[in-house]
Amino acid sequence: MPDLNGQVVVVTGASSGIGAELAIEASNAGAKVVLAARRLERLRQVANACAGEHRVVAADLTSAADRQSLVDRTLEKFERIDILFNNAGLGAYGHFIDSMESDWRGLFEINLFAPVLLTKLVLPHMIARGSGTIVNLASIGGLVAHSDRVCAYVASKHALVGFSRGLAKDLVDTGVRVLVACPHLTDTEFFTVSPGADQMASLVEKFRASMDAPREVARGILDQLDSEHPIVFPTAKPAAAYAKQKDI
Ligand SMILES: NC(=O)c1ccc[n+]([C@@H]2O[C@H](COP(=O)([O-])OP(=O)(O)OC[C@H]3O[C@@H](n4cnc5c(N)ncnc54)[C@H](OP(=O)(O)O)[C@@H]3O)[C@@H](O)[C@H]2O)c1
Repeated sequence: MPDLNGQVVVVTGASSGIGAELAIEASNAGAKVVLAARRLERLRQVANACAGEHRVVAADLTSAADRQSLVDRTLEKFERIDILFNNAGLGAYGHFIDSMESDWRGLFEINLFAPVLLTKLVLPHMIARGSGTIVNLASIGGLVAHSDRVCAYVASKHALVGFSRGLAKDLVDTGVRVLVACPHLTDTEFFTVSPGADQMASLVEKFRASMDAPREVARGILDQLDSEHPIVFPTAKPAAAYAKQKDI
């Protein structure tokens, strides 16, 4: 685990799953953590498990005002941001032919535009200080089409990987780094709260035993924060899945 002593870390989607574990583990590693998501009570529960200084900010990341308030409240308390985890996200299940325009727009709001626009607010502070790390939570589905009936999700995560790669090029020589973490199936609420999840319930049950645990995924990401390569596979499973499917 890296030494994050005194580093200011913002985690979106910190109320459950991978984001909650990122917040707790970063706090255990010495970071000052800002936890953001919509469910305030759940954020408070996660914050109680954080060892160090922290702030909880209720925010809908698809709202411009909430994104601005997250940045303002972080700077007000901790005066800088060293690491931004753009982790909040949703899945979407169903055949493309049955999807509505509103499904696509809603998914891209949280999976692409929220991280892009939050990054836009945070970057000037990082660039002015000449250091910082942006970590975008994509998916193995951001690199390959890992399944059927997840077309919009795969498209949104490919877009997030593309954004991360492009941004890394724009930030060369600024001291700010960009990573994009690509987990595989991870046992979180993602499979119950995402639109269309009920259609996938029996399939998810079949795969549950082989899923990664969110804590392993969080630790895998934190362990690779110094990675020179922007694409980070948090555990061996997504790395193996990518090796198998990358030519498809
Ligand atoms: N689980 C997997 O198999 C898997 C695999 C690859 C990648 N990922 C990616 O990993 C990330 C975390 O997912 P997870 O598996 O940990 O799922 P999760 O347990 O469902 O967590 C998702 C988080 O996103 C937050 N969120 C959703 N919409 C939001 C909004 N509009 N504003 C603010 N926060 C919002 C949720 O909080 P509130 O509901 O409280 O707002 C929650 O904290 C996602 O980007 C996901 O695509 C997951």
